[in-house]
Amino acid sequence: MNTILITGASSGIGKAAARHFADKGWNVIAAMRVPEKETELTRADHIMVTRIDVELRSTMAEAAARGIERFGKIDVLLNNAGYGSSGIFEAASDEQIQRQFDVNVFGLMNMTKAVLPHFRANKQGLIINVSSIGGILAMPTMSLYHAAKFAVEGFTESLYYELASQNIRVKLIEPGSIKTDFGGRSMDFFFDDSLTDYLEFADTYRAVRAQMGENPARQSSPDLVAEVIYEAATDQTNQLRYAAGEDAKALIKLKRESGDQAVIQQISRMFA
Ligand SMILES: NC(=O)c1ccc[n+]([C@@H]2O[C@H](COP(=O)([O-])OP(=O)(O)OC[C@H]3O[C@@H](n4cnc5c(N)ncnc54)[C@H](OP(=O)(O)O)[C@@H]3O)[C@@H](O)[C@H]2O)c1
Repeated sequence: MNTILITGASSGIGKAAARHFADKGWNVIAAMRVPEKETELTRADHIMVTRIDVELRSTMAEAAARGIERFGKIDVLLNNAGYGSSGIFEAASDEQIQRQFDVNVFGLMNMTKAVLPHFRANKQGLIINVSSIGGILAMPTMSLYHAAKFAVEGFTESLYYELASQNIRVKLIEPGSIKTDFGGRSMDFFFDDSLTDYLEFADTYRAVRAQMGENPARQSSPDLVAEVIYEAATDQTNQLRYAAGEDAKALIKLKRESGDQAVIQQISRMFA
């Protein structure tokens, strides 16, 4: 039986992936910051709910070791834990900037380091990093988030070559807008209305966002992303990138076919 370790399995995409892989008969190491709160995933025998805070390195090594002890090995690492942030860059505190990278970039890198010796010893393994359409193109007021997801994209694409030498594959999932806690409790805002020069821009942004932004009717379900992750984990190919959601597919197509500047002009018009 195959085993997957998932970070950020307490909600959204991570939880949907934990359910999906378990339903398909996989062993699941469902890692989350506060496992004591989990009541659903703990009910299945082949799901091990355990603690990983990707800001705390020791929790990664411990959870990986306990997972290997319980299930024998890890076949797939799903680096999913992450959160969004939104605001005016000048208003972001040093702590907010640091934390966005600590969780979304350094957490993912450290988690990768925690399983690589195991994958090398097994002479195989697969690392799936949850990026975003926001790792391919950028929207206004999400500079920190895009910086982090662009970093994940470059990191993963380079590892693709390096780890192929060890028979370890890496893949990227690029979801569009997904109905999770991402835009709600998980989002870190850093608008500051005392920076009055930005008020007009910020108001326009909020108005456009309210109109078309996180409209639940347009968002895909986390189950759809879980299916794409499952496909990436089982298709036996070396494909690097997997878009998830019709919006992500359309935007990637637009960028590929019309070019960078056309996308920038379209987004500029939306927020004009
Ligand atoms: N939703 C979207 O529209 C969307 C689109 C593209 C990409 N993504 C990406 O998808 C991934 C999952 O997000 P989601 O949409 O499922 O949102 P979510 O429901 O808010 O889930 C985020 C998960 O990350 C966890 N997390 C946050 N900080 C952590 C830390 N320091 N250590 C360990 N876990 C931590 C959260 O744990 P707690 O429950 O403890 O807070 C939660 O389990 C993220 O990488 C996000 O960037 C989301």
